[in-house]
Amino acid sequence: MEKLLEDAFVLFGIFAMFFFSLKVVKCLKYFVHTKWLGVPDSFFNSLGEWAVITGATDGIGKAYAHEFAKRGLNIVLISRTKEKLIKVANEIGQATGRKVKTVQVNFTERDIYEHIKENLRGLEIGVLVNNVGMLQTPDPCRFLEMTDIDKKKNVQQKHFSETINDMIAVNMVSVAKMTQLVLPRMKERQKGLILNISSGVATAPCPLYCLYASTKIFMERFSRGCQAEYGSKGIIIKCSMPYSVASQMSRVMPGIIAKSAEDYVRSSLDCVLLGDRCHGSLAHEILAYVYGKLPHWFVYTDAFLDKLMDHVQNYARSQGNKSH
Ligand SMILES: NC(=O)c1ccc[n+]([C@@H]2O[C@H](COP(=O)([O-])OP(=O)(O)OC[C@H]3O[C@@H](n4cnc5c(N)ncnc54)[C@H](OP(=O)(O)O)[C@@H]3O)[C@@H](O)[C@H]2O)c1
Repeated sequence: MEKLLEDAFVLFGIFAMFFFSLKVVKCLKYFVHTKWLGVPDSFFNSLGEWAVITGATDGIGKAYAHEFAKRGLNIVLISRTKEKLIKVANEIGQATGRKVKTVQVNFTERDIYEHIKENLRGLEIGVLVNNVGMLQTPDPCRFLEMTDIDKKKNVQQKHFSETINDMIAVNMVSVAKMTQLVLPRMKERQKGLILNISSGVATAPCPLYCLYASTKIFMERFSRGCQAEYGSKGIIIKCSMPYSVASQMSRVMPGIIAKSAEDYVRSSLDCVLLGDRCHGSLAHEILAYVYGKLPHWFVYTDAFLDKLMDHVQNYARSQGNKSH
C-alpha cells in the first residue's frame, strides 16, 4: 500500500512538472515573439496588396488601418459615416502614400454584401480585419433593462428587438459574410490573414453584457473553427480578444490595463503567428489568466453586479466630465 501511495505521488509530481513546464514554455514563446522577434513588415506584405478593415473610421479599426498602411499595404476602409471615411482616407494617404478605397455601408442592414463585393472585385486582398462591433447600450445593464432604456424613448419592445437584430447583424453576420467574400481568393492564392476582433468578455459568461459577450463568443468559435479548416491551406485566421482599449465605445482612458488603440494594435500584430487566439497584449493576457482563476459564483451575485454597474456608470460620468 505504501509503495502504491509513493508511486502515485511520484506520478502526480511528474504530471505537475510537465504541465508547469508547458506553461513556462508557452510564456517564453510569447515573450520571445512579442518582445524580441515581432512579425516583420515583409510578412504582411507577402500576403497580398490590400488590407480590408470593417468599422475602420474610429478606435481599434482606424488604428489597424493606419498600422497596415504604415507596413506597406493599401487599405479598404468599410464603415458607416461618409465624412469620417473621407477624413481617415485622407489622413492615411497623406501619412503613408498608400492607396485607400472607402466603402460606406451600415452593417445593421443585411443587403449590403453585393455592394461590398463589387467594391472589392479585382483587389488582391491579403488581410481582412473583422473589427466592426456594437454594444447594446453604452452602460452595462441586465438583459431586460435594454427595454427600460427604450421605454424612456417611448419605443418599447419594437426597438428592443431591433437592437437585438442589429447586434447580431453587426457582431456576427458581418464576420461570416465578410469571410465568405474574401476567403475563396485567399484559398486559391494559399495565403491570407483574417483577424477577428472578439472581446475578453467572451472568455466566460458575462452578466450585464450578456448579449454582447454572446455575440463575441460566436466570433471566437467561428474563427477557431475556420482556422482548423483552412490553416493547412496557408491561411491564418486569428481571434483577438482585447479587454479594455481606449475608444468611443469603451469610454476609458489609456492606463495600465486599458491600452491606446495604437498600442493595442501594434502588440496584437506581434502575436498573429502565436496560436489561433490571443488577448493581444501582455496586460490583457495576465488579466485573462487572473479572471479565469476568480470564483465566478461571487462575480455573479446581485450585490456584485449592482456595485459593478454603479462603478462603471460613475467612472463613465467622471471621464465625460473631464473631457468637457
Ligand atoms: N474598445 C474596447 O475596449 C474593446 C474591447 C473589446 C473588444 N472590442 C471590439 O473591438 C471592435 C472595435 O471597437 P472600438 O472600441 O474601436 O469601437 P469604436 O471606437 O466605437 O469604433 C467603431 C467603428 O465601427 C464603425 N461602426 C459602428 N457601427 C457600425 C455599423 N453599424 N456599420 C458600419 N460601421 C459601423 C464606426 O463607424 P462610425 O464612426 O461611423 O459610427 C467606427 O468606425 C468592436 O468589435 C468591439 O466589440 C473593443
